[in-house]
Amino acid sequence: MRRTAFALLLLLSHACVREASARRDKGHVSVVVVGATGDLAKKYLWQGFFQLYAEQVGSGHSFSFYGGALSEAEKGAPALFRILKGLECPSGVSEERCALLKDRFPKLAQYRRLDAAEDYAALAEDVRLRLAREDLAEAGRIVYLSVPSFAYADIADKVNRSCRPGPGAWLRVVLEKPFGRDLDSAQDLAAELAKSLREDEMYRIDHYLGKQVVSQILQFRKDNRKSLEPIWNKHHIERIEIVLKETLDVKGRIQFYDQYGVIRDVMQNHLTEVLALLTMTVPADLSGSQEILRRKLRLLSTLQQMDRVSAVIGQYQAYGAEVREELNATKDHVTITPTFAGVVVYVDNAQFEGVPIFMMSGKMLDERASYARVLFRNEVFCVQDPGSLHCRPRQIVFHVGHGDLQHPAILVSKNLFQPALPDHGWKEVKGQKEALFGLPPSDYYIHVPTPHTEAYAVLISQVFHGRKDNFISTEHLLASWTFWTPLLHRLARQVPRVYPGGAANDNLLDFQLQGRGIAFATEAVVLSSQDLGGGAAAAENFQVMQGKYRNSDMVSAWAEELVRQLAADIQASAEEAVAEGGMFHLALSGGSSPLALFQRLAVHHYSFPWRHTHVWMVDERCVPLTEPSSNFHTLHEHLLRHVRMPYFNVHPMPVQLNQRLCVEEDGGPLAYERDIARLVNGSSFHFVLLGVGYDGHTASLFQGTQLEAHGDKLVALTESPAKPHQRMSLTLAAINRARRVAVLVTGRGKHEMITQLSRVKDDPRKWPVTGIKPASGKLVWYIDYEALLG
Ligand code: BG6
Repeated sequence: MRRTAFALLLLLSHACVREASARRDKGHVSVVVVGATGDLAKKYLWQGFFQLYAEQVGSGHSFSFYGGALSEAEKGAPALFRILKGLECPSGVSEERCALLKDRFPKLAQYRRLDAAEDYAALAEDVRLRLAREDLAEAGRIVYLSVPSFAYADIADKVNRSCRPGPGAWLRVVLEKPFGRDLDSAQDLAAELAKSLREDEMYRIDHYLGKQVVSQILQFRKDNRKSLEPIWNKHHIERIEIVLKETLDVKGRIQFYDQYGVIRDVMQNHLTEVLALLTMTVPADLSGSQEILRRKLRLLSTLQQMDRVSAVIGQYQAYGAEVREELNATKDHVTITPTFAGVVVYVDNAQFEGVPIFMMSGKMLDERASYARVLFRNEVFCVQDPGSLHCRPRQIVFHVGHGDLQHPAILVSKNLFQPALPDHGWKEVKGQKEALFGLPPSDYYIHVPTPHTEAYAVLISQVFHGRKDNFISTEHLLASWTFWTPLLHRLARQVPRVYPGGAANDNLLDFQLQGRGIAFATEAVVLSSQDLGGGAAAAENFQVMQGKYRNSDMVSAWAEELVRQLAADIQASAEEAVAEGGMFHLALSGGSSPLALFQRLAVHHYSFPWRHTHVWMVDERCVPLTEPSSNFHTLHEHLLRHVRMPYFNVHPMPVQLNQRLCVEEDGGPLAYERDIARLVNGSSFHFVLLGVGYDGHTASLFQGTQLEAHGDKLVALTESPAKPHQRMSLTLAAINRARRVAVLVTGRGKHEMITQLSRVKDDPRKWPVTGIKPASGKLVWYIDYEALLG
């Protein structure tokens, strides 16, 4: 007993001597945890800082820890010390050393009430006094914000005003998601934070990047480059699955969760990070944070834009009641926040083009599991023994945690290659019993990390070391939101499929590829209004309404359904024209309204007679066709490059002749008119798609356009009040010769115009769209509910 006490004393004095000399070497680090007694801090953060302390205590730094929260010290301090008392030593630490560390750590910590600016100023003053009193050189300060994100800007401001360290020392402020709920809010938050903190001072945490298997992905790809390079591409990869399944509900977190939902909670961040690590190019040198971040950013910008058919969403049955209870809402309160989502993502580059990358996550599912699986095609045709190893599925699984294996691991099918074992901290395991991803465990090389480390501890250590590649830079964050926001907006009004939860979900949530999108694989479940708590069911029922607008036919629905209907009508028109005369002539407008239509035609209409279709432009901006602002460029990006049609059938407007743009003498309009006359029977298009601007313009025919001057001309140069001013456009004469004209109007922003337009008489000079009167064809308005009803 006496010997143990003596040994402890010796150890302690050793540590003190080491710390004292270290102080002179590397300096003092002050750690401030704001939100020090909250759930996250209790579960992970203090444990992480304790581990950091245990690692660093003899290595040249000294520490002090400040736990801050809003409570007064009488309440906060005991709560903090209860947490500190429960800390556990990292594995591999001897009992004696552990006892010593556990004794010393709380002595270095103190509780502070951190609320008003003065509290932060007082903390800074205490740090300064302590440094002076103990003659400590300062290395830096870590401020960990474990508080709701609405408080970030304010705390960052207080930190900036009073808690910056002296010259030569660093400041690192750690932030937890959510970092906004869409691109705009993320931009606002980033701009607010930038007022107080420099980019290099911000450490936005995504705890997935601290998970052992996730942080090993790039290293694995680098170490196995020789085997992977030939197969890590669209020719060999059949699909990729990135999965985070959970069994728990979200009780206790609904205040947060109901505003975010599963896509924002785990897909925009954790699963997108995994996707990036799997598909970005791997730098030759993994020690440089900058290069890794640059490549990740490049990958994020090559993700193909998603639309509503890129996702399916669900909500567990009890969620609505839980929300009503936690938010104290009335009985008829409805929430359509998804707690389950399946998404298909495509990378738009030569390496991965066309490979479906499925992401899936949900609460209240049948199991807890998290993994990324890369499934390869198997080109071998097994003549005699389909069960032999080289005939079996070939896959690499980055098993992040839980699931059948119950621990992190990397699995490589033996019929792929034998992977290199990482240099340290990993071992190969054998003797697993349960089947893994449909195959006997003996079919895989299985590598597991040893010992197991906690993600937060890993990331806290990286903050300390100033290593930034596992944190989310502002640019990177905005790139991810740029990718996710359009989908989130499109899903905002979609009613999720209700699922019972757990094993009872059975195959209700299975989804499958459909064209380039996905859909639930089983029949839709008809929701009773009770499931939804009333009202919303009716609003969300995607019925298409037929009616009249300005004495012409009108089709109305929610935007997505409207687009679906319009696409179907165009296809019907195309089939009819091809059956009748062998060719379909379609004239398409620019602007943003038809984008969803182009995308729908591109991904859903495989039976569309593209080979027999000619595509013409309704109007064009006088800019080179390669410019993103060119209507043709947009059409090309969203439709033409996705469908197979003869190049000869594509007819951009000749806005650039003789190396100049839209000059009358170059005769562009006449040339286009001649082409139309040469190819289109009677210059009468089968289908013309138009939009209407806020001012009532259509095609590029504006208020003030000299419509009479066009006479019988089919194409003319016009002037827009908006930039770029010069345009080329089909004339009313050309449009009114068409067999069918559709005017597509979507979005609440058009409501006022649609209301006004419903009241005015035909007056094409003021409202050019009112001049649309197909002589022997038909005009149909496609107006979505938002534009129609406001
Ligand atoms: C968090 C989400 O970021 O990640 C939670 O907010 C989710 O909803 C959790 O449960 C999953 O992380 P882990 O580490 O438990 O797999």
